[in-house]
Amino acid sequence: MTRIITIAMQKGGVGKTTTTINLAAGLAELGYQVLAVDLDPQGNLSQHAGFDPEQVYPTIYDVFKAELDGQAGDVSEAIHRGEEGFDVLPSQPELSLVELSLMNALSRERFLATILENVKDNYDFILIDCSPSLNLLVINALTAADSVIIPIQTEFLAARGASMVLSTIETIRQRKLNPDLHVEGILLTMADTRTLLTKDVLAAVENQYGADQHIYEAVVKRSVRFGESAVAGQSILAYDPGNPGAEAYREVASEVARRVSEERVRHG
Ligand SMILES: Nc1ncnc2c1ncn2[C@@H]1O[C@H](COP(=O)(O)OP(=O)(O)O)[C@@H](O)[C@H]1O
Ligand SMILES: [Mg+2]
Repeated sequence: MTRIITIAMQKGGVGKTTTTINLAAGLAELGYQVLAVDLDPQGNLSQHAGFDPEQVYPTIYDVFKAELDGQAGDVSEAIHRGEEGFDVLPSQPELSLVELSLMNALSRERFLATILENVKDNYDFILIDCSPSLNLLVINALTAADSVIIPIQTEFLAARGASMVLSTIETIRQRKLNPDLHVEGILLTMADTRTLLTKDVLAAVENQYGADQHIYEAVVKRSVRFGESAVAGQSILAYDPGNPGAEAYREVASEVARRVSEERVRHG
């Protein structure tokens, strides 16, 4: 049984890519088979996982292109083994061209779901990192997913951005693109050590979304180590295993895994 989770938020710089890579590393540490998918033409996730988006071949772009040309793209060829025990489906800048080509394609929202279908069974978790928008590639990610993790920057008013993701999820459900899509959880990231503000934001998020959505208990604090680990092409779990940020993502990974298995028990 595979769980496909899209990490989405239309705002940039909120920690989507950082969350994808570190959650992938955390779940791999727990012994799960994990695939991290880079669906952002910028290729930040690929880089963060140690791949050069200008050099790595083939990528998710080649698979999309084959599918758009009416061939069955072989996604397994584009899956590369990362150094931290999880697989990576990297991206490259040309993926932005796919976004345009998709516009006129039949079943344009379902390409990624179709592409992942062939390799899905090899994994316990597939995590999809998105670009900071709600474009057609992101719609593909939401259509392919079981659930969504929404990272929110722990600062004043940042939480408002989550409403747009939530209404997009609702639209996707209503249009029957993915009727079972739901929020996996809201993750607070980049929390300041000035705990008072963090507490205020936490309370505001709890107040606004807490009744309907799960908010992860673990809060990821700000640390310069995150930026450093990205440059080093490693997760923070590998780069600085004792860092509180590494610990937070380990906790998030455990929480995600626990909640998924509890949900499966409930639904038989
Ligand atoms: N908890 C954190 N503390 C400090 N810097 C962080 C943290 N999480 C992410 N960053 C840094 O913030 C920037 C934006 O994060 P990123 O994950 O790339 O956001 P997004 O994918 O949403 O655009 C990156 O330079 C990243 O290294
Ligand atoms: Mg990103």
